[in-house]
Amino acid sequence: MEMESLKELYVEELKDLWSAETQLTKALPKMMKAASNPKLKKAFNTHLKQTERHVKRLERIFKELDESPRGKKCVGMEGLIKEGQELIKEKPEADVLDAGLIAAAQHVEHYEIAGYGCVRTWARQMGEERQAELLQETLDEEEQTDRLLTELAESEINVEAEEEGTQGRPATRSRAKQGTKRGTSRNGGSSDENMETDEDETDQEAVGASSSRAGMM
Ligand SMILES: [Fe+2]
Repeated sequence: MEMESLKELYVEELKDLWSAETQLTKALPKMMKAASNPKLKKAFNTHLKQTERHVKRLERIFKELDESPRGKKCVGMEGLIKEGQELIKEKPEADVLDAGLIAAAQHVEHYEIAGYGCVRTWARQMGEERQAELLQETLDEEEQTDRLLTELAESEINVEAEEEGTQGRPATRSRAKQGTKRGTSRNGGSSDENMETDEDETDQEAVGASSSRAGMM
């Protein structure tokens, strides 16, 4: 189909997002099953529920536009999901797999954030305020998920994945420090002294917090 207007491009990108979201509703239960960390399982489950709402929101927009969401396969999402499935098939150690699943999920979130950012902006440009609002709601949820995944990775999952590969080796200074963090999060609140140290670090790290920080993963 030859596209001649921003509106046509908008509809094509919405179809792409609808395909991406529906593919994700099938992939997230598999990621949830593969994850070991209970908080990560819960995060995937919460995002599955959100993703189902994202599909519905897109369908409302298609209805308003009197268009069908079907007819396009999002090959970008297909590739990202495939990469996650390949990781699961490699059967890494449980903590390492959890860290890898977060990375896979953040690739997905960033992909969606880019797509929703574009369609939201196009909707505004074309004066489709209601549609822009709906797309913004989804964009906000994608960004929240991305931040939650970064927090989970930094507070425990990356630490556990690193420790997995260093068991039996003497802890380095930084590793010992991360061990304190791990103890704190696992025990749900150890000594105030440890908590204070951790909070100081987290505050500093949080200053530059944005979705781009996920690159540290
Ligand atoms: Fe989504």
